[in-house]
Amino acid sequence: MRVCSTKGGVGKTTVAINLATSLQLRGYNVLIVDADSINPCVGLYMGLQDVNVGTFEVMRGKIDARRAIIPHPVTGLHILPGRTGSEDAKYTKAQVSQFFKTIVALGYDFIIIDTQPGIMFPDNLDAYDEGLIVTLPFEASCLSALKMSQLYSKKNLKTNVVANRIRGKRYELSLREIEELTENHVIASLPEDEKVDVSIAEHIPIYLYDKKVRFNKAITNLADVYTSRVALDREAPTHKDRGFFSWFRRDRG
Ligand SMILES: Nc1ncnc2c1ncn2[C@@H]1O[C@H](COP(=O)(O)OP(=O)(O)OP(=O)(O)O)[C@@H](O)[C@H]1O
Ligand SMILES: [Mg+2]
Repeated sequence: MRVCSTKGGVGKTTVAINLATSLQLRGYNVLIVDADSINPCVGLYMGLQDVNVGTFEVMRGKIDARRAIIPHPVTGLHILPGRTGSEDAKYTKAQVSQFFKTIVALGYDFIIIDTQPGIMFPDNLDAYDEGLIVTLPFEASCLSALKMSQLYSKKNLKTNVVANRIRGKRYELSLREIEELTENHVIASLPEDEKVDVSIAEHIPIYLYDKKVRFNKAITNLADVYTSRVALDREAPTHKDRGFFSWFRRDRG
């Protein structure tokens, strides 16, 4: 899935790493890919600061994906980091397409791609099963989420919205209003929590801190949605040999 928004700083990376951690801790094999060429933060947030190669080096064929992927010592997650200073994020369409084929072939149960703000990056939306659009509970953020969702639906990419940093203030949009404005289902509502910043400062996903924190409960609920889809797939007798990705593809549209 592609965690995305046209707006910066709404919590894409926070959602991506904590959802990934939650899924990994249930025993799934999860790969998180940092596809942010401007400010790659997955490694930074998870304590992998000194990275020489990453997503774009793999994309441009400079290094094999398996050599660039780093097992995260604390969570067990596999991380394909972004390299800070990887300003040369140029690649051809064929390279992007080969990149997705390569990482899907590695056999992970879930692949979560953390993207930079913006619409079309990387640009082959066919590779994704779902766009998880993160928004704040405000009009401008929701309208930009709507724009993104409309564009994705033209390309047959299914989307859901994650509402982040909910404080329950009167001036915030309600979940119903967010759904109306974004024309999407709000698949998760994540509260504002100071511990998110604390966890980032300590380079560890907040999900490892304390599952009882409301933020983590909401992440657990979000992970439940995805694990139940996989469970359904595994139980379906006629599709036993299909992977997670093909199941998701059937679910489209
Ligand atoms: N629910 C939350 N409660 C409190 N702080 C949060 C929450 N979600 C995100 N933040 C904070 O917001 C900041 C931005 O988060 P994050 O880096 O995940 O956003 P992003 O959308 O990935 O940003 P970018 O567009 O630069 O990639 C971080 O400092 C993070 O700690
Ligand atoms: Mg980010």
